[in-house]
Amino acid sequence: MADEIAPPANQLAAVSLGNDGSTVQKAQFSNRVLIRTILDRPDGGAKLAGQKIRIGGWVKTGREQGKGAFAFLEVNDGSCPANLQVMVDSSLYDLSKLVATGTCVTVDGVLKVPPEGKGTKQRIELSVVKVIDVGIVDATKYPLPKTKLTLEFLRDVLHLRSRTNSISAVARIRNALAFATHSFFQEHSFLYIHTPIITTSDCEGAGEMFQATTLINYIEKLEQDLIDNPPPTEADVEAARLIVKERGDVVAKLKAAKASKEEITAAVAQLKIAKESFAHIEERSKLKPGLPKKDGNIDYSKDFFGRQAFLTVSGQLQVETYACALSSVYTFGPTFRAENSHTSRHLAEFWMVEPEIAFADLEDDMNCAEAYVKYMCKWLLEKCYDDMELMAKNFDSGCIDRLKLVESTPFGRITYTEAIKLLEEAVAKGKEFDNNVEWGIDLASEHERYLTEVLFQKPLIVYNYPKGIKAFYMRLNDDEKTVAAMDVLVPKVGELIGGSQREERYDVIKKRIEEMGLPIEPYEWYLDLRRYGTVKHCGFGLGFERMILFATGIDNIRDVIPFPRYPGKADL
Ligand code: 4AD
Ligand code: MG
Repeated sequence: MADEIAPPANQLAAVSLGNDGSTVQKAQFSNRVLIRTILDRPDGGAKLAGQKIRIGGWVKTGREQGKGAFAFLEVNDGSCPANLQVMVDSSLYDLSKLVATGTCVTVDGVLKVPPEGKGTKQRIELSVVKVIDVGIVDATKYPLPKTKLTLEFLRDVLHLRSRTNSISAVARIRNALAFATHSFFQEHSFLYIHTPIITTSDCEGAGEMFQATTLINYIEKLEQDLIDNPPPTEADVEAARLIVKERGDVVAKLKAAKASKEEITAAVAQLKIAKESFAHIEERSKLKPGLPKKDGNIDYSKDFFGRQAFLTVSGQLQVETYACALSSVYTFGPTFRAENSHTSRHLAEFWMVEPEIAFADLEDDMNCAEAYVKYMCKWLLEKCYDDMELMAKNFDSGCIDRLKLVESTPFGRITYTEAIKLLEEAVAKGKEFDNNVEWGIDLASEHERYLTEVLFQKPLIVYNYPKGIKAFYMRLNDDEKTVAAMDVLVPKVGELIGGSQREERYDVIKKRIEEMGLPIEPYEWYLDLRRYGTVKHCGFGLGFERMILFATGIDNIRDVIPFPRYPGKADL
């Protein structure tokens, strides 16, 4: 019977419902309907009653009822935070195999409006006609018990935490923000440039780079090889050298004696073999365990790239080469920092969005940063409201209001000097900070958060920082004390964006590199951008995970990236 009712695959596709033009959309490349397209409708799916569909998902909770006559399953397929209620009759399947949390089910069924008066919020449920596939779960062994789990606990179950409501909502928000990012920059005619992950330049000049090397593997192999085949001794080398000499003498004698061509050729071939053998023995005799050295330093010419290489800390320097040709560009990719930070705002691997704009100055930079952050807030309010509601319920009741505020209110803008003045006034009134406040300091996170959370209560852009605390590429202001840098500070997070107008004057930037004690040679290509056709330009970097923290109100950055990497941790 059930086989007859189950609709053929082609009828599971989008079905027009006529009156209000609504449709059930089939998931792309999958023979099922996305649960979101059923539940995320103004009618909660009610008008779809009568439709025959196939769904797939994981059981959030399941319970047998009517003395085992049927089971109710709350099924989630990740397309939205809401679950679809699924009713299965015991005549169709062994219900005990369906109800465990985490069980995967693919079922065909008919959508029905649930009977009223059961206290259910559901406006539609699926009455199963056929169970197609089941991925069972042994409830006694499933690592995610049904009790409320802390985000901290889930960090040790990275491979399964995407099954939880919170982490899956964060994944959808993260996805939406990535889409919003591309959408914003594409709408504004920026070109997406892929900058390298392996680099030989240190952009921030802070030396917090992970090295990319195969020298360690090379050494390991070599050391094993030297154990398996001990290197030749000096006597071995001498013996090989003697053979070369002897065979050389033979060739010389044969030539002097005007021997036959065949005899000489044969002797020359023997000599060649002896020479090759000698070269090999001599080379092996020089092999030593440990890193290859030259003049007391590690010899990176023996490394994979023939030079020292690193994982990038920022795509800025490389993307500048494209900005200085294609005008408005951006890069969006993973970046790496080997700082030993154990804070809730730092990761060793994080994603950064870095636009770079030619023919633009610091003010343009600030305008772009502000417009971009606002765009993302608006995007989430429009496209991820249900996920944001879940964030408000589970983590931060104010997160939706914050998005609305940020989307609609101009950011504050003050100079660094004004910021220091405000902080000094606060200190004079009794506010205590752990870190001293005086002109010249790098603002600490507590200062940044005080400014944006307490004093301004909205995003705040601080600009014109002392040159001593900023990178070499930032444009020197006329006062010669400050550079045209700007940081966007936001409540909950502190620094969300760091950017600057770049120093486009050849002489000035060269002097800055020297002043900061950095070697010129590695930056020669960067200086070429100033030597040839230099242009006023600016850009910034937005820490993508910090944007997610800011949007969701989640406390720890380790919970907003699928696979967090931080000191002592790199699971999967
Ligand atoms: O301020 P930063 O270091 O700036 C740069 O790297 C520039 N080259 C960007 C540019 O102008 N193109 O980093 C930019 C942002 C910070 O504001 C912060 O949001 C984030 O990247 N960030 C981190 N996020 C997570 N973990 C870390 N360890 C981070 N370090 C920086
Ligand atoms: Mg910074």
